[in-house]
Amino acid sequence: MSQHPALAPGRCALVTGAASGLGLAAARAFAGLGMNVWLADLPGEALEAARAEVAAVAAVEVRAVPTDVGDRAAVDALRDAVLAHGGPPAVLMLNAGIEAGGRLFSDLDLWHRILDTNLWGVVNGIGTFVPGMIEAGRPGAVIVTGSKQGITTPPGNTPYNVSKAGVKVVTEALAHDLAGRAGCPVTAHLFIPGFVYTGLTRARGAAEKPEGAWTPEETVAFLLERLGRGDFYILCPDNETTRAQDERRIAWAAGDIIENRPALSRWHPDFAEAFRRHMEG
Ligand SMILES: NC(=O)c1ccc[n+]([C@@H]2O[C@H](COP(=O)([O-])OP(=O)(O)OC[C@H]3O[C@@H](n4cnc5c(N)ncnc54)[C@H](O)[C@@H]3O)[C@@H](O)[C@H]2O)c1
Repeated sequence: MSQHPALAPGRCALVTGAASGLGLAAARAFAGLGMNVWLADLPGEALEAARAEVAAVAAVEVRAVPTDVGDRAAVDALRDAVLAHGGPPAVLMLNAGIEAGGRLFSDLDLWHRILDTNLWGVVNGIGTFVPGMIEAGRPGAVIVTGSKQGITTPPGNTPYNVSKAGVKVVTEALAHDLAGRAGCPVTAHLFIPGFVYTGLTRARGAAEKPEGAWTPEETVAFLLERLGRGDFYILCPDNETTRAQDERRIAWAAGDIIENRPALSRWHPDFAEAFRRHMEG
């Protein structure tokens, strides 16, 4: 398997939301490749436990820095700490995210909490770290964790969907900007997990991994393989959804505008039969 050139032994990977789930699995994978790893997550025992877990993978440097990604000053301080230890990261994985049960009519505090973490966390991470990565002139990869819900935007979880739609837009803009800089060896990638058994899915009440879910490790293996191929959209399947099904769902969502259908027609009773036929091809 060819590897993205930024994923090299001795270089550094910084992962946000690294104390659990996909972030922790990615941090373990980067350590396994011989990279030094910075773990950023909210303060607490889980972060220290994650540091010990990643340090046990390989003889690499592993540091854990309590950081709220929605707090720009905290992300700036994280950047200063990373720069003081050998320069900007080779891999920046902006992955911290919450679902938090938000709904369309949730109170503003909850809307802000979700957007501050999921969207501002990404904007803060890009603004704080990427200029230094570009200036360093060495291979770099910015991996941003989005969601299929930011593309097909199903009813329910509206603040989460809004945040992940924003994450998609910001990451596309970043990739386009980087690609337009002559000779810039830094690339950006939108990581779109499927259904993965993590803290986020456990919070929805699943006591053990549902059959349909992938493990974080399977999902990160898929991420690294697609990163090696240079893909921007890293659209992950799982045990219940194939790539072909995702493609049809995305095409239907885009078709709402082109066909002048009602908003979110996939979930509209009048379009149930048409959507079923569309999925059958
Ligand atoms: N699990 C899935 O099925 C799935 C699907 C699509 C996208 N995602 C996305 O994957 C990413 C990782 O989530 P996960 O599924 O591994 O869940 P998880 O809950 O296991 O991990 C998320 C981590 O982010 C941390 N975090 C939350 N708020 C933070 C903040 N303000 N600052 C720093 N860290 C913070 C949490 O403490 C936690 O350790 C999220 O962006 C999520 O939206 C997950």
